[in-house]
Amino acid sequence: MTATFDALWTELAPIGRNRATGGYQRLSWSPADTEARSWFAQAAAARGLDVAPDRNGNLWAWWGEPGAGAVVTGSHLDSVPDGGAFDGPLGVVGALAAVEELHRRGVRPRRPLAVVVFVEEEGGRFGVPCLGSRLLTGAITPDRAAALTDTDGTSWARAMAESGFAPERMGPEPDLLGHIGAFVELHIEQGRSLAHIGRPVGVADTVWPHGRWRMEFSGRPDHAGTTRLDDRHDPMLPFAHTVTAARSVAEAHGAVATVGKAVSKPNCANAIPSKVRAWLDARAPDEATLRAVVDGVDAEARRSSVEHGVFLASFKESSTPVVRFDSGLRDRIATIVGGANGPAPVLDTGAGHDAGVLAAAVPTAMLFVRNPTGISHAPGEYADTADCHAGVQALTTTLADLLTE
Ligand code: GLV
Ligand code: MN
Ligand code: MN
Ligand code: MN
Repeated sequence: MTATFDALWTELAPIGRNRATGGYQRLSWSPADTEARSWFAQAAAARGLDVAPDRNGNLWAWWGEPGAGAVVTGSHLDSVPDGGAFDGPLGVVGALAAVEELHRRGVRPRRPLAVVVFVEEEGGRFGVPCLGSRLLTGAITPDRAAALTDTDGTSWARAMAESGFAPERMGPEPDLLGHIGAFVELHIEQGRSLAHIGRPVGVADTVWPHGRWRMEFSGRPDHAGTTRLDDRHDPMLPFAHTVTAARSVAEAHGAVATVGKAVSKPNCANAIPSKVRAWLDARAPDEATLRAVVDGVDAEARRSSVEHGVFLASFKESSTPVVRFDSGLRDRIATIVGGANGPAPVLDTGAGHDAGVLAAAVPTAMLFVRNPTGISHAPGEYADTADCHAGVQALTTTLADLLTE
């Protein structure tokens, strides 16, 4: 199993890698993403799995005919811009290595197994995270998905069509979902909980509710040298105030809020901008707190916009309610993978996952692998090979248990 994992990891590693930063750029439907998806299809087929995409662009690799009670594992291959090597790929490579190990152990499944690769998990190109799993479960309408655009103005429908899919066939797949008896996603931890307690593998308990809001500050473009300060309608000023307000409002509520993306128009050093578009990512332990954070940031943005004579429009781009993973599955997995050290630790996370979307429809669980620095969504994301192997071992044990019950 470890040799298979290492070999597959080495094959995937160069795809979409930025040699200068060491990070990854695998935006959905880009050449790098397409290459990674083709790599998956070949690697799965080489292990005797039947690979087929669903109507939404997710890839499924089946061991046995798709059917009732299927055990499904997998993750995603797309990345955030300049993301890490592990967020997504660990759960895909780990799934293939686990399947090979199940074969090697001679496990005779009593139900079908599938490895899935979800498309656009990060929302790194089209803005809505977990788009493939949201389409599958019906958490987003095909019309809304089709109309999402990237920063160049290419729509999801067009990008999908250019990759050979029929966007008009997008939509929920109740039959496919109805086959799933359990979904388990292996993922690198995106914090330091496991490192802190010195354990290599943990099991997820909850995901914080979270979402993304787009704010558009519209002012009046003008000359940077000749316009008196009192005469300006500069959208950069309420934008800047909002960034610092996001920090202080989140801090006051025990939450987190981030403005990681902003675009100024026309983005010119010697002109007052006409518009600043910015994205707020907010996450909190519960939904009431998240609401309070978003309302608090919005109130500050509005107050400052009025003060500077700037028009503000805000839009919710996506939101995910609190996720509580299946408690029976969680406890069962914690016990069987914990080994001699007692049950594996159970963790909450602030990171979103396709497993969080699937949890609303099917019994779902997640396994986390220790991340010594906690760094994620950045080139520095890292896990020790021995811990990755421990994660794959835990996934194999879990799948064997679920497949033979
Ligand atoms: C996705 O990885 C997210 O948590 O934003
Ligand atoms: Mn991920
Ligand atoms: Mn991610
Ligand atoms: Mn994620």
